[in-house]
Amino acid sequence: MTSAPAPSFNPGKGIGSPVGIALLGYGTVGSEVMRLMTEYADELEHRIGGPLQIRGVAVSDKSKPRPGVPDELLTDDAFSLVKRDDVDIVVEVIGGIDYPRKVVLAALKAGKSVVTANKALVAAHAAELADAADEANVDLYFEAAVAAAIPVVGPLRRSLAGDQIQSVMGIVNGTTNFILDAMDSSGAGYDESLAEATRLGYAEADPTADVEGHDAASKAAILASLAFHTRVTSDDVYCEGITNISAEDIRAAKQADHTIKLLAICEKITDSNGETAISVGVHPTLIPRSHPLAAVNKSFNAIFVEAEAAGRLMFYGNGAGGAPTASAVLGDVVGAARNKVHGGRAPGESTYANLPIADYGETPTRYHVDMEVEDRVGVLADLAQLFADRGISLRTIRQEESGEGARLIVVTHQARENSLAATVEALKDHPAVKSINSVIRLERG
Ligand code: HSE
Repeated sequence: MTSAPAPSFNPGKGIGSPVGIALLGYGTVGSEVMRLMTEYADELEHRIGGPLQIRGVAVSDKSKPRPGVPDELLTDDAFSLVKRDDVDIVVEVIGGIDYPRKVVLAALKAGKSVVTANKALVAAHAAELADAADEANVDLYFEAAVAAAIPVVGPLRRSLAGDQIQSVMGIVNGTTNFILDAMDSSGAGYDESLAEATRLGYAEADPTADVEGHDAASKAAILASLAFHTRVTSDDVYCEGITNISAEDIRAAKQADHTIKLLAICEKITDSNGETAISVGVHPTLIPRSHPLAAVNKSFNAIFVEAEAAGRLMFYGNGAGGAPTASAVLGDVVGAARNKVHGGRAPGESTYANLPIADYGETPTRYHVDMEVEDRVGVLADLAQLFADRGISLRTIRQEESGEGARLIVVTHQARENSLAATVEALKDHPAVKSINSVIRLERG
């Protein structure tokens, strides 16, 4: 006879108990977290069941003025702060990977729940952090790591936990969306639009992580892990940025009633062996103007989820900035604090499905190839044959006069990425092809 498992009881600290907070980092986000926590202290206390009390604010340089922080709270010793007995929750808003990883691990190992906004850290080290949180029976929250104020981590972790997610596709980087939107609305080139984004404060002084797609790739890894119950890290994500997108690409897209967006695309595919696998990529994508993501302009973000029972869902809003990011951080702080006061734990990492990550070459996609070719008898037939040789069906072909030759724009039907890429290589080697202007993937639909 088997006996029933002993009921477990995790009583928490009890109603009215204060919840100690260590804030790591006091930049744009940290200062907003502090402001909101102070300004809405009473409201938050009611929502939690006990007051939040800031025990310390760790910064790298204590001598810099930190308006809003009493001197006695400032410290440059984050490791000691996170281990203090009166700290229950550690809020990490420093950025970077190596240093925050060490401090966050130290906090988890000391039995503190952690709230982080750090997508690069979560995308690279989710397994290690989740294991440390499990071992200490504490929470690890990271809503702000993906698209700041937009609630998407919580919905994937909780609200959609009973559904089967087929794909998650989104605009998860505001800087690149601002640049592409500026190019689309003004006809300006990439450099000019990046300069505008920098002047208006949408792009950072060093925009590399944004324009090369790395920031979006970290977010894609997090979204795919949550959606498909599988560990996906930033190294698993195929990544292409927007630096090669030209004013001419945007003009050609417009002519075809499309626009170009940098999309993070996470989906379940059937690979060439007939197995289910996960494909995760970030790249510029042509989407019809009628697609809901085409209407996402300026620096806004949006995430489009398709699930078996829920159908299509879209999450839209501010994906960056001090206050929007602090909103998501504080939502997590309230969740973690409620658990401290009342007992219990947030859902942890779920990786039971452990699906294989497909090589990106296996991904079914469609190509838009824009090239300059010689204008003579048989060229079109020859080039179409290169696609046919690899089993790729053509959807549309448009030809325009271009100087002495012709400009040819070919849109394919769906085929595997590696067959399409091999065809582009063959086109480059063909004597009738003078140059390939651009190759851009189309949204699958
Ligand atoms: N730099 C990001 C963006 C915000 O432009 O959306 C933080 O991930």
